[in-house]
Amino acid sequence: MLSSRSLFRAATPFIRAQRTYATSVASFNGKKNANGNYTVTMIEGDGIGIEISEAVKDIYKAAKVPIEWEPVDVTPILVDGKTTIPKVAVDSVRKNLVALKGPLATPVGKGHVSLNLTLRRTFNLFANVRPCKSIVGYKTPYDGVDTVLIRENTEGEYSGIEHVVVPGVVQSIKLITKEASERVLRYAFEYARSINKTKILAVHKASIMKVSDGLFLSTAKELAKEYPDLTLETELIDSTCLRLVTDPAPYKDYVMVMPNLYGDILSDLSSGLIGGLGLTPSGNMGDEVSIFEAVHGSAPDIAGKGLANPTALLLSSVMMLRHMGLNDHAVKIENAVLSTIASGKENRTGDLKGTASTKHFTEQVISRL
Ligand SMILES: NC(=O)c1ccc[n+]([C@@H]2O[C@H](COP(=O)([O-])OP(=O)(O)OC[C@H]3O[C@@H](n4cnc5c(N)ncnc54)[C@H](O)[C@@H]3O)[C@@H](O)[C@H]2O)c1
Repeated sequence: MLSSRSLFRAATPFIRAQRTYATSVASFNGKKNANGNYTVTMIEGDGIGIEISEAVKDIYKAAKVPIEWEPVDVTPILVDGKTTIPKVAVDSVRKNLVALKGPLATPVGKGHVSLNLTLRRTFNLFANVRPCKSIVGYKTPYDGVDTVLIRENTEGEYSGIEHVVVPGVVQSIKLITKEASERVLRYAFEYARSINKTKILAVHKASIMKVSDGLFLSTAKELAKEYPDLTLETELIDSTCLRLVTDPAPYKDYVMVMPNLYGDILSDLSSGLIGGLGLTPSGNMGDEVSIFEAVHGSAPDIAGKGLANPTALLLSSVMMLRHMGLNDHAVKIENAVLSTIASGKENRTGDLKGTASTKHFTEQVISRL
């Protein structure tokens, strides 16, 4: 058995890293360049990442968005045995304060740390915001889904602290700190205010993980006292899953906030309610920089075939525009994307039971700008 001292040693760098974070709420402080444009780092990513990034760039050019893309390669390098992002890429994101990112493939069961995790840790991206809204004109079993889920993005089951205790017995540590919990919870309370929602739902499993999820929950209850205009409710993760797939409508009143793994699973579940992963955007928020990305992965089964749906990355970029204060451009692009999807099967990609290629979909969006 590992002693509590060696467990503490394993978790220490993590706890130290958490302490470097401030608790102020992420906001964009970028400035326009000499051409009157913002420079945004573009990480095209793997698999369909290349095709869907191309679609975004074409649409932004046609919509005359005041953005210049700075493409960077994040192929990891090993420094002292640690997965590390090349300095050029890190410097670009730190300079521009905002990035749009395609999916990055993570080999399963191989030794290195996920590059997505490395990015989140490198830039202290502590909250992952995942909205999920039904698209009018694209029928799914549920109408009117409108959920927002905020996932803790830096620790929990993703702390990466795993050991072989003895052959055949392994241990994986779920690390929860008060500091990281408070930071993501505070973001959720502030985010709710900013979008005029009055209820926060902290999703947990403190009935079983009494200490770890218990800390998350007690932190939420403490913090709620600072927000008398908002109501905090709590719900067990299994109940949330059941109730969401039975009737998602009541969840439109809430901003949901939860530890890392629950957020990963529940956001894919929510994607399923509105038509799948091709539609759901996200924003990874940090105090200094923010990285916006689709919820889906690199889709190796359709990569390079011109079939990918660029909507999730486009809607992620729309979240990015709003974060940057470019609201008019956000509305214009969002409306063009949504009306293209609603316009019929021939303009929708295969994941939405349509026949359109990525290129055809992109041209249709441009024609509706
Ligand atoms: N944030 C990220 O970068 C991220 C997220 C999830 C998975 N991944 C990585 O992506 C790789 C593939 O993962 P996976 O296959 O489990 O999940 P995936 O999301 O790549 O694909 C799941 C299914 O959804 C379909 N799909 C996903 N996005 C689509 C789109 N935009 N248009 C049309 N169809 C789409 C795929 O074709 C596939 O059938 C893995 O290496 C995984 O680690 C990366």
